[in-house]
Amino acid sequence: MRWAIGLALVLAGISASGCNSAGASPNQPIAFPHRAHTENQIECAFCHENVARSSAAGLPTTELCGTCHSAMAQDSPATQTLMEYVDKDEVIPWVRLYEVPDFAYFPHQWHVRADVACSECHGEIGTSLRAERHEAVEMETCIACHEQRGQTVDCVACHK
Ligand code: HEC
Ligand code: HEC
Ligand code: HEC
Ligand code: HEC
Ligand code: HEC
Repeated sequence: MRWAIGLALVLAGISASGCNSAGASPNQPIAFPHRAHTENQIECAFCHENVARSSAAGLPTTELCGTCHSAMAQDSPATQTLMEYVDKDEVIPWVRLYEVPDFAYFPHQWHVRADVACSECHGEIGTSLRAERHEAVEMETCIACHEQRGQTVDCVACHK
């Protein structure tokens, strides 16, 4: 069934290229399963360590992956690829799913501290086997929630 797998990868590639809409799932360098980690009680902020204290949540370093995986079984293709990055101490070139343009400002910390759940904006990524974009980052989405919760809709709050 090699051809079927190949076709699925090609299709995934097409739907990801240059597409900034909801549901898109880019082809990542390593098939990273969030679920395997959250099932083992690893907290979101263990890997996205700035999420409650700065505007950017951040992605984990290759070194952090290695702290656990160097001592674990490496019998799947995904973990073998991971160990190549760890051994060479190279940055894993993850494809970003969410990104606001430079002219807009999004502060994670205020949202997290106000108890807006990760899943409201990112869907059930924590229990997924493969990260997908839950919804596109659009001004309408920001404004809709801000209006609903009585938060600011001042242009300068998000466009400094
Ligand atoms: C705190 C420890 C820890 C860290 C840090 C960690 N992992 Fe894991 N990882 C696990 C555990 C536990 C599992 C589940 C293993 C199992 O179920 O056999 C897992 C599973 C996986 C799997 C699936 C393994 C398979 O059999 O296919 C992949 C791929 C993976 N991790 C990649 C990564 C990557 C990439 C990073 C860094 C971004 C990372 N992990 C960081 C503990 C960790
Ligand atoms: C073991 C480390 C680890 C844990 C724990 C973890 N993540 Fe991630 N997360 C990653 C890695 C690596 C990526 C990049 C790969 C990908 O997108 O699949 C990522 C990607 C993401 C993204 C997409 C970022 C972007 O713009 O591309 C979001 C959103 C996210 N994680 C949210 C969460 C949430 C919410 C939790 C807790 C429920 C969580 N993560 C737990 C490692 C982790
Ligand atoms: C109110 C909506 C919202 C909530 C709540 C939210 N995020 Fe995000 N997240 C975003 C947006 C928008 C981006 C793109 C930000 C950018 O480009 O600066 C993003 C980007 C990310 C990224 C990509 C890396 C980065 O630094 O930008 C990760 C990882 C992430 N979020 C994890 C989380 C986790 C974990 C939580 C919960 C603790 C969370 N987010 C809560 C909207 C949200
Ligand atoms: C699901 C609801 C929700 C969504 C979606 C959301 N926000 Fe918010 N936002 C809030 C809440 C609640 C606060 C108030 C946090 C606090 O109490 O400090 C807030 C606060 C802010 C602030 C700080 C405002 C100030 O007073 O200085 C900025 C900036 C901001 N959001 C930008 C954004 C942007 C940009 C987006 C879209 C990418 C977005 N938000 C999407 C709920 C949301
Ligand atoms: C709560 C946050 C927030 C507020 C308030 C906000 N914006 Fe935005 N705005 C964004 C984000 C995020 C983007 C980038 C995503 C997009 O293009 O939809 C954006 C995009 C834009 C764009 C580019 C549109 C495009 O189609 O490329 C313009 C122009 C703009 N905003 C003007 C304004 C004006 C004028 C106001 C006040 C009336 C305002 N914004 C208030 C978050 C906000």
